[in-house]
Amino acid sequence: MNHQTRVYQDVFEMLPSEENPSPMVRINKMNPSPEFELYAKLEWLNPFGSVKDRAAWAMLRELEEKGEVGNGRGLVEPTSGNTGISLAAMAKARGYHMRAVVPNKIPLEKKVLLKIAGAELDVVNDALCPAPGLGDGSINIAKSHAKAQAKKYAMPNQYENEQNVLAHVRTTGPEIWRQTEGKVTHLFVSLGTCGTVSGTSRFLKGKNPDIKVVAVQPTEGHDVPGLRNVSQLGVSRLFDSSLVDDILEVEFKLAYTRALELCQGEGLLAGPSSGLIYEGAREIILRDKKGFGVMIFPDNIFKYTSNMMKHIPGLATGNEA
Ligand SMILES: Cc1ncc(COP(=O)(O)O)c(C=O)c1O
Repeated sequence: MNHQTRVYQDVFEMLPSEENPSPMVRINKMNPSPEFELYAKLEWLNPFGSVKDRAAWAMLRELEEKGEVGNGRGLVEPTSGNTGISLAAMAKARGYHMRAVVPNKIPLEKKVLLKIAGAELDVVNDALCPAPGLGDGSINIAKSHAKAQAKKYAMPNQYENEQNVLAHVRTTGPEIWRQTEGKVTHLFVSLGTCGTVSGTSRFLKGKNPDIKVVAVQPTEGHDVPGLRNVSQLGVSRLFDSSLVDDILEVEFKLAYTRALELCQGEGLLAGPSSGLIYEGAREIILRDKKGFGVMIFPDNIFKYTSNMMKHIPGLATGNEA
């Protein structure tokens, strides 16, 4: 493989690594302090379209190495969409079947994309980022499929799998350290399974314990797929509070308006969780004034047009014809 010419023998060679990092782009017009450098790391440029390519690949590779997939055994996984899309596309390309268990509330675009990527779909009533151990939610339903049909399904379980954290210790953290030449002072992330925050923070704080890690969360009752609210944090097995300096709560509708502003102001077609992270970064920049910040933008806006129509007045009208 050659990252210079960008000619690859298969899609897996395109996955991000220190040698092939996802791009970082400077925020210009929308940076509130000239003394604070702010960059967005664009995870939607990963081959399957989101930050979850990293965790999905690490979990799948481990299952392959242990011989737990193949010979008729595929995957079952609870997902709010992105992990499922990455896993389904990877699994199909390697010859395994994949079943995704998703909360009903995820955007229609993600449900269709999961099927296009080759997943069989179970749609259940559940929170947008389901919590382990709670009743009949998608995690427990996936677990019961894995138990009842052990010959057919291995369950990576991104909510509890250490590979979800290690993926970011091995890739996202080293990429940011190298791309910023060690100058990073602030990391801005959102919280879903908490793999991104725990892994990236573990690596970066290992290099420089003074780096501030800021996690941004939507208000309760939110409609930002993939994310967790503060009240749901206790149950997140991969969350480690010693690796986070600030947790900000942001009114969830701002996720949508900030995403729109990033599209129209910076030309960055950022999704709602990126919009939320940007709002958190803005608040910290106004507080700290000086620094070098990196925001991890999990995915782009294309999977959220129906959600945007719901939350941004005016977008829904004029589309009737
Ligand atoms: C759109 C989006 N943003 C943010 C996240 C959070 O990432 P993590 O699960 O690593 O905490 C996810 C996770 O699924 C996601 O799909």
